Order: sequence, then structure tokens, then C-alpha cells
Amino acid sequence: MSILDKHAVLEKNATLLLVASLFVVSIGGIVEIVPLFYLENTIEKVEGVRPYSPLELTGRQIYIREGCYNCHSQMIRPMRDEVQRYGHYSLAAESMYDHPFQWGSKRTGPDLARVGGRYSDEWHVGHLADPQSVVPESVMPKYAFLLNAKIEPTYIEDLLDAHAFVGVPYTPEMIAVAQADFVDQADPFADSTGLLARYPKAQVRNFDGQEALTEMDALIAYLQVLGTMVDFSTFQPDASR
Ligand code: HEC
Repeated sequence: MSILDKHAVLEKNATLLLVASLFVVSIGGIVEIVPLFYLENTIEKVEGVRPYSPLELTGRQIYIREGCYNCHSQMIRPMRDEVQRYGHYSLAAESMYDHPFQWGSKRTGPDLARVGGRYSDEWHVGHLADPQSVVPESVMPKYAFLLNAKIEPTYIEDLLDAHAFVGVPYTPEMIAVAQADFVDQADPFADSTGLLARYPKAQVRNFDGQEALTEMDALIAYLQVLGTMVDFSTFQPDASR
């Protein structure tokens, strides 16, 4: 019996072919997956990455609610054109506290993984309220209503608690003072010592320029922190793995 004849046996028996295919495919799976159980850490630890502050996390909820991810990715691939346009490629650690992650799958607009600090708050207010006033040919919808949507931190403990449940290291103390942290981050006159100790380098200011605390404040606080946690002037990729 030649090898081709032997193979003909497989080809004529659907069940056998299925079992044999599964066997072959599973070898590939095992080779890829098993080493992950033995690596000490599949996500390289990177200095500077911290959980989102209560206000930033709320902004992230608004980002998800409004479907910004349908048009914007948050994942810079390590290709030269992307790195030149958007900055250092995204590290796994940078989305370790994102539940669910916001990598996205479509770029109708630009990638936002490093948009933090690229524009002023005023620019964001103007652009979000009326994108066409800044970029006349933009297809981005207007989000001016966010300026009128007042927010209160009523459910912020629950939001942090839910994230703690899936592994974000929010301590009971952070959850206990979340309401105050939420309000204080948008108030330049508040004492932000505790907030900054809990969320290092958090930006504290009135983001939308209005007296009331609105969804616009939260969304801009979130956009302005994106990609700013890691200091890439000192970051060294760990070459040992
Ligand atoms: C229908 C697709 C679409 C949706 C939905 C959308 N955007 Fe955009 N966005 C764009 C396009 C296109 C641009 C580029 C033109 C411009 O600046 O308006 C853009 C640009 C931007 C920029 C400027 C980025 C840069 O680097 O210049 C920011 C910030 C932004 N969008 C944030 C958001 C946020 C936040 C939301 C959700 C509230 C959102 N976008 C929803 C399409 C979209």
C-alpha cells in the first residue's frame, strides 16, 4: 500500500478525517498556548501604567457608550508608518487595566492610543462639539450635548468595584474616596494631594471650561490620559524574553 493509498483511507472516511484533522490542528494550538502557562509574566511590567482615575474611567464609559471605538482604534502597530504617525507602538501593559480593551478594528478616524497631550482641552471641546468646525471634511458626528450632560459620581464606587472584581488593583480605600476623587479632578482649587498619590500624574483641571461637571469633562480627562502613562524617553523594552 503506497502512502497515497493510505491517505485515501482517511479521505473516504469523514469521521476519521475529522478526528485526524483535529489532532493535527491541536498540535499547533498546544505549541502556541502551553508556553504561556510557564512564562512568569505574559504582560511585561512597565513603569507608569496605573488604573484609570474615577473621572477618567467615567470618560471611558462615555467613549464606549458613544461608540467611538467604531471609528477609532487604540492600538499602534509596530510598523514604521504607524510609529511615525502616532508614536511608540502600543505595549500590552498599556491596556492591562482596560476592561474591555479598546483596540478597535476600524480606523475611520485616526488611532487615539496616544492622543493624550496632543491637543489642548479647548481644542477637544471645540472638536467634539462640532468636528467640522476644525476639520471641514470630517465625518465625525457632533457631540455638543456632552457639554450639557451634567454628571454626578452616584455609581462610581460600583464602577470601580466592578473593575476591581476583574483584577484592576483598586483598593478598598480608593473605592471609598472615589466620589471625592471624581469631583476633585475637575476642580483646580481642590486639594488633590490624595488624588495624585492614588493616581500618579493625574491631570487636575477644569477640562471643559464650564462651571458644571459634565460628561465633556470626563471624556476629555480620559482622552488626555491616553498614551501618557509610560515615559518613552526612559522606556527600555525587556530583551530577555
Ligand atoms: C463616524 C466615525 C467617527 C466616530 C463615531 C467618532 N469619530 Fe472621532 N474622528 C473621526 C474622523 C474621520 C476624524 C478625523 C477628522 C477630524 O479630526 O474630525 C476623527 C478625529 C478625532 C480626534 C482627533 C484625532 C487626531 O489625532 O487628530 C479625536 C480626539 C476624536 N476623533 C475623538 C472621538 C471621540 C471621543 C468619539 C466618540 C465620542 C469619536 N471621535 C467618534 C471619525 C469618528
